[in-house]
Amino acid sequence: MDGDRRPLVAAAAIDAGSLPFGSGLLALVRPALARLPAGGVVALISGSAALREDLPRWCRIEHHDYLGCDPADGARDRHLVARGPLGGESGAALDDAMPALGDPRSGFAPRGARVEPGAPAYPFTLLDREHVAPPEIADLYRQAAGASWSVEQDIPWQRIPPLPDALEQAVGQVMGFLAQNELSALYVPARFLPRVHPAYAEVAMFLATQLADEARHVDAFVRRARRAGTLGVATVTTAHSLLTLLEAAVRRRAATLAGTGGVPAPVQDLVLLAAGSTDPAALERGADAFRTLLETMHEARIRRLRSAGFAADQAARLSELHTPNFM
Ligand SMILES: [Fe+2]
Repeated sequence: MDGDRRPLVAAAAIDAGSLPFGSGLLALVRPALARLPAGGVVALISGSAALREDLPRWCRIEHHDYLGCDPADGARDRHLVARGPLGGESGAALDDAMPALGDPRSGFAPRGARVEPGAPAYPFTLLDREHVAPPEIADLYRQAAGASWSVEQDIPWQRIPPLPDALEQAVGQVMGFLAQNELSALYVPARFLPRVHPAYAEVAMFLATQLADEARHVDAFVRRARRAGTLGVATVTTAHSLLTLLEAAVRRRAATLAGTGGVPAPVQDLVLLAAGSTDPAALERGADAFRTLLETMHEARIRRLRSAGFAADQAARLSELHTPNFM
């Protein structure tokens, strides 16, 4: 043992019997070190000869200082270990503030954990707080997590009345179309999640609540379609429209829709549902109701965009890009 470095007194002593390294020894050593400040020394009394190699190796990996060993009572060793800078401070206040910049080398370490130097860089690309994490994100996550609902329990499936066959067919088509769109609503934002640096974990967790919500939408629409006995036809126009969501932004989507001749929604089925019957006069009223629905959606979108801070002309332009898609 290096006599110059050896402290006179260990702050804590552990009698480990003859426990070998791989049999729970660390359950004794780690907490004893964690209770000490950096540089504090633990004495470990052990009858396991293998520890003379295993303990120094573990100390190197965990950045503790192995100070050596000498004979204790009888055939046993007395090892001395000084706590390193990363040893863990029980009861220390955790720094929970989101950093201005996420360090790619902290990987999935939860915010506040001490990160050992030398870890590999992770491929997160959304790294700066300014653009990724609004200050209220933790509240938004808690609200969203607390407001979840159940497709099974919160929809009164038994109370849905049977409809005439033509209307059930229309319901199936509309529900199938909605499920197709909801699947895209699940997949498109999911692509952002692995890009968010875990220093802003609440952003990823909030996104996860939105994904769970979209999953419920898919579930609900598919269930209703199955009750109708059909999921309708998934059209090429809708396929083109949704592919652009995976590939690009809303402007390209609108251009694609214009190129494929218009509205991917199952308009006739919505008109029929609004009419409630195949009577021609009722269908005319249904068509009026559908036009009113489009107009109402357009106005509601403008209101939401305005409240999100868009100028009136921007809001109108964005909403017009959206309207032909129906969804
Ligand atoms: Fe949805």
